[in-house]
Amino acid sequence: MMLVLLGAPGAGKGTQARRLALRHGIPQISTGDILREARSAGTPLGLLARSFMDAGQLVPDEVVVGIVRERLHSPDAKPGFLLDGFPRTVPQAEALDGALAEQGRGIEHAVKIEVPKEDLVERSVGRRTCATCGRIYHLRYSPPPSPEACECGGALVQRADDQEDVVRERLEVFERQTRPVSAYYEARGILRRIDGSGTPEEVGRRMEEALGGEGRA
Ligand code: AP5
Repeated sequence: MMLVLLGAPGAGKGTQARRLALRHGIPQISTGDILREARSAGTPLGLLARSFMDAGQLVPDEVVVGIVRERLHSPDAKPGFLLDGFPRTVPQAEALDGALAEQGRGIEHAVKIEVPKEDLVERSVGRRTCATCGRIYHLRYSPPPSPEACECGGALVQRADDQEDVVRERLEVFERQTRPVSAYYEARGILRRIDGSGTPEEVGRRMEEALGGEGRA
């Protein structure tokens, strides 16, 4: 399965990507996670990405395309993969097609998760992530065992770009730069849109239906 997950910031891409990757035994490739790890490690990539991310802007195409190209060559991505947060611009989508064509492959499914704007803001502002295992919680919708700690015992952190003003800027950037990516996959006849409201389990069932499964969450 070669799948692209689309949707605005806070739509639930990461939440669904973790479930799908486990269920289908394919790696979740999240450019946001890769960039955050680079930031934490203080690498040159992390230092470059930091100012863009903190301002809610996209990291330049050539940087993220280089990351994804390299990741797609990893042995675990041979049977399939799930891209979360990439592509985010039409040039990124074109570069992805080019990179896969070199390997004789191509994207099979693009699923867009749709959620009303005010819900997106609330979801992002209330998000907490485990610094150890990466599990995603929401203080109201998927509450952790305690506001500070994950089930695994790791510390919960709030992302720097989840402050409300930065979230609203990320939503503007999504409208300007990322929305056209849906049209790109629609023109290729592989785009499916799903309603991202309801519980993560309900969204998961819609996701499996969109992928041609039997609606299992
Ligand atoms: P990235 O990390 O990709 O963030 P994003 O796309 O903005 O998406 P989010 O991670 O904010 O949300 P999500 O859709 O994954 O939602 P989640 O499942 O966490 O990118 C961050 C930055 O990195 C970018 O701004 C940019 O600077 C840079 N970057 C990354 N990729 C790039 C690229 N390709 N090109 C250029 N720059 C790039 O859910 C959100 C919350 O809602 C959670 O709390 C969750 O528990 C909750 N939730 C989930 N599902 C439900 C539900 N059904 N009901 C209620 N709550 C729910």
